[in-house]
Amino acid sequence: MSLTFSRGLEDVIIKETSLTYIDGVNGILRYRGYNIEDLVNYSSFEEVIYLMLYGNLPNKSQLEEVREKLYRNFDVPKELISMIYSLPKGSNAVGILESAFGMLASIYDPKWDKSTDRDLAISIISKAATITANIYRAKEGLKPKIVEPKKNFAESFLNTVFEKSFSNDEVKAMDAALILYVDHEVPASTTAGLVASSTLSDMYSCVVAALAALKGPLHGRAAEDAFNQFVEINSEDKVESWFEEKIIKGKNRLMGFGHRVYKTYDPRAKIFKYYSEKLSKNNSQANIYYKIASKLEEIGIKNFSDKKIYPNTDFYSGILFYSLGFPIYMFTALFALSRVLGWVAHFIEYVEEQHRLIRPRAIYVGPEKRDFRPLNER
Ligand code: CMC
Repeated sequence: MSLTFSRGLEDVIIKETSLTYIDGVNGILRYRGYNIEDLVNYSSFEEVIYLMLYGNLPNKSQLEEVREKLYRNFDVPKELISMIYSLPKGSNAVGILESAFGMLASIYDPKWDKSTDRDLAISIISKAATITANIYRAKEGLKPKIVEPKKNFAESFLNTVFEKSFSNDEVKAMDAALILYVDHEVPASTTAGLVASSTLSDMYSCVVAALAALKGPLHGRAAEDAFNQFVEINSEDKVESWFEEKIIKGKNRLMGFGHRVYKTYDPRAKIFKYYSEKLSKNNSQANIYYKIASKLEEIGIKNFSDKKIYPNTDFYSGILFYSLGFPIYMFTALFALSRVLGWVAHFIEYVEEQHRLIRPRAIYVGPEKRDFRPLNER
């Protein structure tokens, strides 16, 4: 039997999917055939939830049905809220999400959980909203609060986090962010979740596996790291010297730049840029960061033109979140709140249509057989 070795599983296909199409050369991203730009401009996160889980965009009554299911499931066990509030204030937001989903995995008996249950998938998204909102609220010393239904999911979430109302532009920007982060085929987090899902583990535990992979700086945490670069640079006139020092001389990676699949501008980054520019106009500090980011983008593209490295989705998303009032420590958790939909949609698709235990091989490169020597002879 001949085995092929692909470091980092690069270019290895692990499943068929009808969820997300990426053309990394031309910068195209579609969910179930719809261009991401159209979904952001003309639909809502709830419509995308229906699209990903049921295959088509909903009609009015189907949309009402999905909203009703989402709104019915915002509640979480009280022990979970107590757990979030019992952690030290400095706890990592994605770590808290992992603990929360681990807790849900223990509270709900897996026998009850069907790996392809769409209602369960919807309730997971609702619970992710309440958990995420309370991560912020606990860390900021605010009282716990279950998400309260408003006009749409984005508004319900924002209102619960900050207990204030937001303009239509702000709610639309949050909704856009939720849509943009939903799915991206099989990146590390989705693959990690799929590995767990292929063992027919329960959906909550599979979300924990996916979260563990999302947490890393090469994946979900890049938005925080990208934004921290803007904070470190601090003013537009220091961008060039910072780039020279940190990236060229220091040989560091420019965070929020480069992608395994896109060899052109990430289409999500274009939309994030649009919304971050729009929102940052009303927030002077965010506007400074936006100008720094634009200049850094220009220099980065010029320097990396031979390697085809461009801004990815995480380059501008932090400015959008910051403009809405979120602290940097929340950025990856906000990514997760959206991506949980992509994860569960992939788990369902895989288990329902093409299930096979994911079990790759490794090539042994260690020593030949060695004679064992007891401890007192070594
Ligand atoms: N800054 C500087 N050089 C880079 C960067 C970057 N951001 N990304 C790639 N390169 C260089 C890399 O050094 C290598 O150069 P050389 O061939 O001279 O050794 C070449 O480009 C190819 O890099 P690679 O690491 O083999 O490419 P990859 O497909 O494994 O990288 C990546 C993908 C996302 C890990 C990488 O671009 C990266 O580290 N970017 C920064 C972190 C980041 O923004 N991550 C978010 C990814 S998108 C959202 C998400 O998935 O969460």
